[in-house]
Amino acid sequence: MHVVSVMNYKGGVGKTTLTANLGAEIANRGHKVLLLDLDPQANLTFSFYSVDEWQSELRKERTIKRWYDGEMPGRNVPLAKLVVTPPRVNEFVQGSGGQLDLISSHLGLIDIDLLLAARLGGGTTLAESKRKYIQLHSCLADGLSDPAFREYDLVLIDCAPNFGLVTKTAIVASNHVLMPAKADYLSTLGIDYLAGSCDKLVAEYNDYIDYNGADNGGRQKISPRFLGVVFTMIQTYAGRPIVTQQNHIEQVRLNSEVPILNGVLRNSPRHFGDAGASGIPAMVRAPMDDDVAVDFRRLTNEFVKAFTGHKDTA
Ligand SMILES: Nc1ncnc2c1ncn2[C@@H]1O[C@H](COP(=O)(O)OP(=O)(O)OP(=O)(O)O)[C@@H](O)[C@H]1O
Ligand SMILES: [Mg+2]
Repeated sequence: MHVVSVMNYKGGVGKTTLTANLGAEIANRGHKVLLLDLDPQANLTFSFYSVDEWQSELRKERTIKRWYDGEMPGRNVPLAKLVVTPPRVNEFVQGSGGQLDLISSHLGLIDIDLLLAARLGGGTTLAESKRKYIQLHSCLADGLSDPAFREYDLVLIDCAPNFGLVTKTAIVASNHVLMPAKADYLSTLGIDYLAGSCDKLVAEYNDYIDYNGADNGGRQKISPRFLGVVFTMIQTYAGRPIVTQQNHIEQVRLNSEVPILNGVLRNSPRHFGDAGASGIPAMVRAPMDDDVAVDFRRLTNEFVKAFTGHKDTA
């Protein structure tokens, strides 16, 4: 099973749009995909369910908040019990033999970072606090290790625009990280810093794993791979990003050590402006010869190849 965190602590860069469309496109190629919405804004959730449906069907029992809540994440309910199969998109993709499942979010998730941070404190010995650190940071990894998730080819996690504890649990649970970014000056400034923050988390976690030795409940060191930056909201002219955006991409390519995917997500309010309204992401609804969707399928091919090492063309 491949677990990919889609993250950038800059807001509004297209994380959710990319996650929803990649998930639906890969499901529409016959794969079983699970989307996990870890953002209290719940935009990924509302890309598949209306607010009314979420209120009546999901809010009380089936959101990730319920799982993080309580004494320790996962004590209230097993993660697998939260999985739902959004009807509209699945009616659409089922002909391919694929399936797109979701674990939905909740506005109340916004309080969970503080709750988790409070739980991190209070250890009486160094060994105990390091044990707590490992336990909390690996909670999502532990939850996803449930055999119920083995049937998924891919889990995509839509992270909130921050680097709080919930986001950190996503990175610890992931074997890959994908970073959407806009090709403008301010957005490209933070790319190296974010990659550095991920590296720091991994080093710290692995250090604690070493420290605790046999006391880690069988947990191993982690080494999530940085798949790369996907540039989003790209305006094209004659098949290439417009000059200002191309310059920003080149700056990142020259000055940064993070890899960049060649494929981009084109800017298209026509396709992405009404995200969620139909419950079916735009890229799977678009006609085969739609130029934005053609580029998106190319990006999906590259993404699939990056994390599997295999080509999976449409
Ligand atoms: N390629 C695109 N073309 C046009 N509009 C887009 C594109 N991608 C995203 N948008 C629009 O930009 C806004 C932000 O996109 P999105 O919600 O995906 O970003 P995000 O990074 O998930 O934001 P947040 O940090 O708040 O979670 C949305 O209104 C979305 O419809
Ligand atoms: Mg989002």
